[in-house]
Amino acid sequence: MVIGVPKEIKNNENRVALTPAGVTELRKYGHVVYVQVNAGEGSGFEDEEYIAAGAIMLPTIEDVYAIAEMIMKVKEPIASEYDLIKENQLLFTYFHFASSEELTQAMLAKGAVCLAYETVERPDRSLPLLVPMSEVAGRMAVQEGAKYLEKPLKGRGILLGGVPGVKPANVLILGGGIVGTQAAKMAAGLGAHVTIMDVSLARLRYLSDIMPPNVQTMMSNEYNIREMIKVCDLIVGAVLIPGAKAPHLITRDMLKMMRAGTVLVDVAVDQGGCIETCHPTTHENPTYIIDDVVHYCVANMPGAVPYTSTLALTNATLPYALQLANKGWQQACRDNSDLKLGLNVVDGKVVYKGVADAFNLPLTDVSTVLIEEEQEVQ
Ligand SMILES: NC(=O)c1ccc[n+]([C@@H]2O[C@H](COP(=O)([O-])OP(=O)(O)OC[C@H]3O[C@@H](n4cnc5c(N)ncnc54)[C@H](O)[C@@H]3O)[C@@H](O)[C@H]2O)c1
Repeated sequence: MVIGVPKEIKNNENRVALTPAGVTELRKYGHVVYVQVNAGEGSGFEDEEYIAAGAIMLPTIEDVYAIAEMIMKVKEPIASEYDLIKENQLLFTYFHFASSEELTQAMLAKGAVCLAYETVERPDRSLPLLVPMSEVAGRMAVQEGAKYLEKPLKGRGILLGGVPGVKPANVLILGGGIVGTQAAKMAAGLGAHVTIMDVSLARLRYLSDIMPPNVQTMMSNEYNIREMIKVCDLIVGAVLIPGAKAPHLITRDMLKMMRAGTVLVDVAVDQGGCIETCHPTTHENPTYIIDDVVHYCVANMPGAVPYTSTLALTNATLPYALQLANKGWQQACRDNSDLKLGLNVVDGKVVYKGVADAFNLPLTDVSTVLIEEEQEVQ
């Protein structure tokens, strides 16, 4: 298959969809890989490394879209890319269609095959191409929290791990999923006293078994949250209710109960945030203060560490990309239900329920599309 990797052009996006190691793997199976010049620059991969791995460099984004059967990207195409997309071209990237009708309509009009990273789903309902970014954001939440606890950055002026003779900071983590678990590991590793809250008792049992002794678990409810926020230095919001807005576990009035300089890192900001006073911020201007409480609410936290994020993402996407390239998207989706669930828009039809529901568009059964495609091939 002919694979194209354009340079990401969305504002502040430094990740790239394929590393030189990924090129080597695809080349091993005889695929041809075209990479746009400087595509890996933001993540620290030089053109020479791609060339050494067997890629062919192309000077412009137009060249890449014109030649490729499968485009591998990180972010959804932006308006200036719509016209470059060809009918039947396979696009393997994050789309988040439900948040943009314009993008959905553009992809329907183009007749492209859109396989969205975020809806690739395992039989156990986990989302293997979202997990790596949650892992990055969870670990980063504590790194950023520790930084903003410093006095010059308006924090309480407390070191997470304390020092001998001085007690460590208290860290509260709301939600013990992927983000929460990674945040807890980081905070515990730095020596903080950590509490993880979740509504799932089964999850709390599991966390209680695997976490070090400086991590305690607690049922998430309003009473417990109100008690804990009075004595916590860093609070990480890591709640997710799939398909819904995050619940406001910390409300406006609760800020008054916190000590001045407490830091809130609301990782769940991309789902509306689990802290009422949270609104999305950027890496250029990540924090703001309300009632002497520092709010860090960057909606794309992994963007600040593109080297790690690119490697984490491509570790997860490459096995799927190989299947798509080796078998063609139709056969790969017939053989692998994870990939089949990634199909959102095919040949002018919406095949993913969440997208059809979001814009009141007709839903085509994805199996029908795959059968139709199979007949066309025969
Ligand atoms: N800001 C960013 O850059 C960034 C990056 C990655 C992920 N995220 C977001 O982080 C959030 C968490 O992602 P995740 O992968 O850890 O999800 P996850 O599904 O693995 O974990 C969510 C956890 O929240 C728990 N939960 C639900 N309701 C709760 C409540 N009322 N109180 C306490 N816990 C509750 C669930 O039981 C689950 O364990 C999501 O909103 C995700 O989109 C943001």
